Amino acid sequence: MSNDPFTAPFGSLFGDQMTVATLSDGHYTYGGAAQAFENFSLHPGTHALHYGSSCFEGLKAHRQVDGSLAVFRVDDHVARMRQSIERLRIVAPDGSVLRQMILDAVEANASFTPPTPGSLYIRPTFIGTTPNIGAAASPSETGILYVICSPVGDYFPGGVRPLTLYVETKIPRTTPQFGMVKSGANYVMALGPTLDAKRDHGADQVLFATGDDITETGASNFFLADDTRVITRQLDESFLHGVTRDSVIAIAADLGYEVEERPLGTGELIDWAAKGEVFLSGTAAVIAPVGTVIVGDARHTVGDGQPGPNTLRLREALTDILVGAAPDNHQWRTTVAG
Ligand SMILES: Cc1ncc(COP(=O)(O)O)c(C=O)c1O
Repeated sequence: MSNDPFTAPFGSLFGDQMTVATLSDGHYTYGGAAQAFENFSLHPGTHALHYGSSCFEGLKAHRQVDGSLAVFRVDDHVARMRQSIERLRIVAPDGSVLRQMILDAVEANASFTPPTPGSLYIRPTFIGTTPNIGAAASPSETGILYVICSPVGDYFPGGVRPLTLYVETKIPRTTPQFGMVKSGANYVMALGPTLDAKRDHGADQVLFATGDDITETGASNFFLADDTRVITRQLDESFLHGVTRDSVIAIAADLGYEVEERPLGTGELIDWAAKGEVFLSGTAAVIAPVGTVIVGDARHTVGDGQPGPNTLRLREALTDILVGAAPDNHQWRTTVAG
């Protein structure tokens, strides 16, 4: 397999250092430094393997135009990770501990950061480790919290490509109480409908719109845009509160767009496709244009099927902040040695 982040599959390469803390007796113990990346030895009865007591985060560090290295919105990802762990009914680490584990892992793996448009993808992870296959109805009392890093290339090799979305109105992505939890179970639930939509409709991703309520895709948030407006679904507990979504909203407001956070249905999406732009937002893809939406058996081309000017403008504005080519007016960047 390729060792080049620009040709290897996203997330398949790893930096050679990691940070690890253990949870026991309600307390996280972190040694305060990165260690060699290595396999864990897990009891076959490990809670996370049987009852899904695991969750994770995904954020990035980018090589800056001045040569330094900066992590994007680390505190927001720490807060979301703490919330995910708490939703597993497990005590969350202090935010300062997890933050330090992330920064230590990035610093230790800094040399693995590819040049722009590549980045160092950071994956904080929690697994519940209580060895008890009878504990289906109780939370894991012990756990491992760790941070690994993956050098990644551009999410879209060869440049930004308009995506095809299949709109799923019946099967939900996840359950109402777990919509805003970054738990592996959510992703395996979305896998079946996504594979079916690829096979049956040639779709890249599924846009979940249970009961005609458009929320998000399997791994990104959803936006409509035109020359004056940016529209996205209002927050509630039913879907993931994307950090990129929040960044897009702030940047759009800075650029003078009106931002609307409100319900969106498939009727509006079909009308919008004829005249406006559609895009996805997420840490991995940054801002990804949508060229086609499939509703039922009908394919609707978005605009002329190519990335729209507002989508590209927002994407460039965000990318400039990510790599230090624009001022950090919102204090989103944290510089790390390396
Ligand atoms: C289900 C889901 N929605 C949205 C997002 C986008 O979130 P963020 O912008 O924080 O990466 C992600 C990716 O993390 C996701 O997995």
